[in-house]
Amino acid sequence: MDDLDLLRRHQESLFPSVGLFYDEPIELRRGEGQFVWDEHGRQYLDFFGGIATVSSGHAIPEINDPVKAQLDRIAHSSTLFLIRSQIELAERIREMTPDHLNKVLFVNSGTEANEAAFLITTLNRNSNELIALRHSYHGRSFATINASGQRGWRSSTLSPLQVHYAQSPYCYRCPWDLHYPSCGVRCADDIEEIVTTTTSGNPAAFIAEPIQGVGGFITPPPEYFVRVQEILNRHGIPFIADEVQTGWGRMGVTDFGFQAYGVNPDVVVFAKGLANGVPIGGLIATDELASAIRSLSLSTFGGNPVSSTAALANLNYIATNNLRENALLVGAHLKERLFELQDKHTAIGDVRGMGLMVGIELVRDRQTKEPAPEIVSKVQEGAKRRGLIIGRGGLHANTIRLCPPLIVTRDDVDAAVDTLDAAFAEAS
Ligand SMILES: Cc1ncc(COP(=O)(O)O)c(C=O)c1O
Repeated sequence: MDDLDLLRRHQESLFPSVGLFYDEPIELRRGEGQFVWDEHGRQYLDFFGGIATVSSGHAIPEINDPVKAQLDRIAHSSTLFLIRSQIELAERIREMTPDHLNKVLFVNSGTEANEAAFLITTLNRNSNELIALRHSYHGRSFATINASGQRGWRSSTLSPLQVHYAQSPYCYRCPWDLHYPSCGVRCADDIEEIVTTTTSGNPAAFIAEPIQGVGGFITPPPEYFVRVQEILNRHGIPFIADEVQTGWGRMGVTDFGFQAYGVNPDVVVFAKGLANGVPIGGLIATDELASAIRSLSLSTFGGNPVSSTAALANLNYIATNNLRENALLVGAHLKERLFELQDKHTAIGDVRGMGLMVGIELVRDRQTKEPAPEIVSKVQEGAKRRGLIIGRGGLHANTIRLCPPLIVTRDDVDAAVDTLDAAFAEAS
């Protein structure tokens, strides 16, 4: 009754675009580590982490205590005053990224950070042309929805940007029906074709997520970004890496996705997991690009003491607890277990991802690869009933997204996969 009332009030007072998971949506009232509890006190293993945002885990004292202390000292001053934690965080991010990335700007979300990346690159290049990938997602604002290559999210096609969309490195659904590696990574060449045929020759930037998050954890082949970077360098086009979902150790081997792919972007955009759930976003860029904003500009809340303190504490927690390494090892186990599940359940068309960012694409038929969003719904509901939270995504909403807090263990993975196994058995 209580939940129905809350749902009714949600629907009455919030924009209709603010969607909810599940036939009967739930309220997550409390979290601890990799677990959350709903309004009835039911416990769930959280394999979605608030959309890859609770990077370390829920309610971690080593992260929350310094935040509470900061709130009690001073919550806000604005960027017109020196903010020690903001400066320390910028220095820390410089240490984590290549030497040519020197200047950091903090904002409040991934959308805003991508907006800033578009602003500096369009100003620097005196061009409003952007090359983006199909199946991408870069935010919900006027410019970013148009940089996104998924119809479902494009509430408007009016845009300050002229966007050219290259094919996604989506091996499972290769637009040319080729197979890796004999394909020669044809999708990378598409960027060159786009530059030479559809642009004026002077695009402001190329933007890509190392793994396409909302797009369904589409994971490019290993050489893809190296090839893309060669093309971009040849044409002098800056590379914006949108690390909103992939940053801070989630991919296992490295701090960022671009490092896992061995490339050197000119701008790195981040948000979500940086402060373990406290709102923050930002970007790091070369000196040249950062100097492109010549007018006055500020973000009232950007780099505020509370978010910066949370981010520093979270980065310390990730480093001291070797969570990046944990993501690598536990993530490998997760994929292994999911491949076993794929042998059992014919609806599982593809398992992909890196570290603790793993997608399961569901199809009605493995031959035709017809998307099966209805099976995702059933599995999601079945998992919920059994105490597991999972995400979904993809152009056809037919991909299960698993991106738990980085503290999850092999035992958690086994529990999650066993639950999925039961949910699949029931769903098909
Ligand atoms: C890759 C990527 N970029 C940008 C955004 C937008 O971030 P925010 O929702 O914080 O504005 C998202 C959000 O899901 C994202 O996944």
